[in-house]
Amino acid sequence: MSKREQWSSKTGFILAAAGSAVGLGNIWKFPYIAGENGGAAFLFIYLICILAIGLPILNIEILLGRETQKNPVGAFKKIHGDSNWKYVGALGVFASFTILSFYSIVGGWSVAYTVEALKGTFASFPDPEVAGEFFNLKNSNPYWVLGYHTLFFLSIIGIILSGVKGGLEKASKFLMPILLFILFALVVNGLMLPDSDKGMEFLFSPDWSKINPSTFLLALGHAFFTLSLGMGAMMTYGSYLSDNDDIVNASYMVAFLDTIIAILAGVAIFTVVFSSGYDPTAGPGLVFHVLPPLLSQLPGGYIFAFLFFLLLTIAAVTSGISILEVSVAYLVDELKFSRKKATMIMGVLVYLAAIPCALSFNLLSDVTLPIQGKAFTFFDVADFLASNILLPLGGFFLAIFAGYVWGIDSTVKALLKGDSGSLYFGNSILESPTSKMIFGFLIKYLSPVLIFLVFLYQFGWI
Ligand code: TRP
Repeated sequence: MSKREQWSSKTGFILAAAGSAVGLGNIWKFPYIAGENGGAAFLFIYLICILAIGLPILNIEILLGRETQKNPVGAFKKIHGDSNWKYVGALGVFASFTILSFYSIVGGWSVAYTVEALKGTFASFPDPEVAGEFFNLKNSNPYWVLGYHTLFFLSIIGIILSGVKGGLEKASKFLMPILLFILFALVVNGLMLPDSDKGMEFLFSPDWSKINPSTFLLALGHAFFTLSLGMGAMMTYGSYLSDNDDIVNASYMVAFLDTIIAILAGVAIFTVVFSSGYDPTAGPGLVFHVLPPLLSQLPGGYIFAFLFFLLLTIAAVTSGISILEVSVAYLVDELKFSRKKATMIMGVLVYLAAIPCALSFNLLSDVTLPIQGKAFTFFDVADFLASNILLPLGGFFLAIFAGYVWGIDSTVKALLKGDSGSLYFGNSILESPTSKMIFGFLIKYLSPVLIFLVFLYQFGWI
């Protein structure tokens, strides 16, 4: 059997993992929920969620991958034999299908809008309303949605086919600096606009009256999605690490990059929205209706509109590859397929699974399921199922596994293997009995309880 591929460097892994974490969640979701839910007050709670729950779980996910050198199904099998725990891994493989089936549609939109920006289409939009009509008109054409989805998908498959070093790592090393550079340019542009302070106020002025228990659950749910936790993506990336790698430090870096990029995206977006006197919205509305006309009306707007959609595309590609890699690693490890064969098979399967999502905006727009009193299309169902059910469930089981089955002692011992004793807090943070106790408390008690509450909350049960 050929040797398992590994990242060529520490930076390579950090950039790939940060590439997975930094995605559509950072750019179209985080800024809006932060602004709507109390600005700096939300940010404060969000940071607590990242530190107290996101980081420990991130460590554990990467660690399980490194310890077992396997995909999620194989990882649980290797540590716990052929028990029911492998189904938690299988849940991850299933989630990778579900997430990618809607994520890659949005990725396709990002590619399409990069092309439209290049064509200069947005300059003729007087306001977001017209831009919204354009978006709906384009989406009413199934060939348009499917075509760009295919393009996006092929780029992901191409990267995965090229392997861990030559594909995942190389793409992330190339794309992440570009992403940072573009974001920086957009932030500077935004801050120089008149009235940019109104956007900053929306994002940062603390409004503690907006904080209630559900804000906490919202923040935690998002912390999960944004760090790519709960479905084995980080586990799979971790499986390409060696025992010499310092997981604790890498996790800090990934969480730091992810958070700072989400905040910067907020600055880049809301300075533009507020300086044009518009109201902020979330999701597709914000990115595909509001921003194209507003960006292109700025001085240098042609280039900024193009840069923004390129940023979105890069963020979506580097996340998309981490999602598909879970399924591919599963076939490679468990069924001993070659990477090429595994990529082709999973690529086709996930591509087919995404077709109903692509048709949710046209041919199948009337096929809906009533969920929480709303009519959900295939696209909505995939999003709901993955983000609200599969990920929290995966995170919950992960915490239980590390806390009770594998045990905190073994977990911490394994974590300390790659201790570089360096920078930041280092692994050595876990060496003292107190910090080990805190880590144990977070994993055994706080995480499962809170994640379970998020689960109930997302169902509307609390
Ligand atoms: N974290 C990415 C974002 O914020 C999305 C993502 C990539 C993801 N891989 C994942 C989410 C795995 C959950 C699980 O857009």
